[in-house]
Amino acid sequence: MSHDASHPPTRPSLGAVQETLLIPLYGRAVEHRRPDAALTDPRAAELVDALDYDFARFAELPSLTGSVLRTLLFDHWTRDFLGDHPAGTVVEIGAGLNTRFERTDNGRARWFELDLPDVAALRGAFFAETPRRTTLATSVTEPDWLEEVGREPGGARLFAAEAVLPFLPEAEVRALVGRIARRLPGTLLALDTHTPRLVADQDAHDALSRTDARLRWGCADIEVVADWAPGSRVLASHTLTSLPRAVHDALPPRHRALLDDLARRRLPQVEEYRMHLLRLP
Ligand SMILES: C[S@@+](CC[C@H](N)C(=O)[O-])C[C@H]1O[C@@H](n2cnc3c(N)ncnc32)[C@H](O)[C@@H]1O
Repeated sequence: MSHDASHPPTRPSLGAVQETLLIPLYGRAVEHRRPDAALTDPRAAELVDALDYDFARFAELPSLTGSVLRTLLFDHWTRDFLGDHPAGTVVEIGAGLNTRFERTDNGRARWFELDLPDVAALRGAFFAETPRRTTLATSVTEPDWLEEVGREPGGARLFAAEAVLPFLPEAEVRALVGRIARRLPGTLLALDTHTPRLVADQDAHDALSRTDARLRWGCADIEVVADWAPGSRVLASHTLTSLPRAVHDALPPRHRALLDDLARRRLPQVEEYRMHLLRLP
């Protein structure tokens, strides 16, 4: 069922970690409405209007802009992947109410959007499944969904885990990386990491501290993750202040000025948060 604007707002009833999906959703909606927006996402703005939730708790938080910049990088990797593999498979792990399909789909790719059952049910109120677009209502830590993805013909796969894996214990992340590498070799995995220090200091995080969710996994060096599946290669690793040139140069002047300022200040909460693209063996 897709959302009808004449319906009363939907009150999301979500677990603690699931509720965090509303932060980047709100970030994209606010950004979309700015006159000098870095990203176009009318669907996110519609979803915020359609949800009965106190988004004001996140208003004006600096990390909203951070989440938009992160999404732009993950979108960039997705477009790159679809440029190389127009009929490839994209799996959004911990999709939340992300609208990457709306922003980057090329009309040919196969999409899976995976999240916990309550989030999958919420997605179902707004996004229609199609033969190219499937919701997987499961924890990423369950093994079965990999079988369903693996049955797709084609081969090339990008798994985008944006702001998801840090909520899992390290052992679960490690088991997942091993499972993907064994079951679907050659998969590209986009993910983000906080250092152990940021995980320890998470009560100081401007947006997360307004939810009951907890970060569990701290990672100081992405090569450690690559070593969990020997033969993995780190294709890219960026902070918000060292975005790829193509992403940085496409930003409006306001965002570039903000990033220049952040680069000078070298704040730990910015510099110790990284986004990576791995090729699993
Ligand atoms: C901060 S939100 C990010 C949502 C989305 N990736 C985005 O960028 O808009 C974290 C998401 O991870 C999902 N998540 C957390 N643990 C999960 C698990 N074990 N399996 C699947 N999804 C999970 C949550 O339900 C939530 O949707």
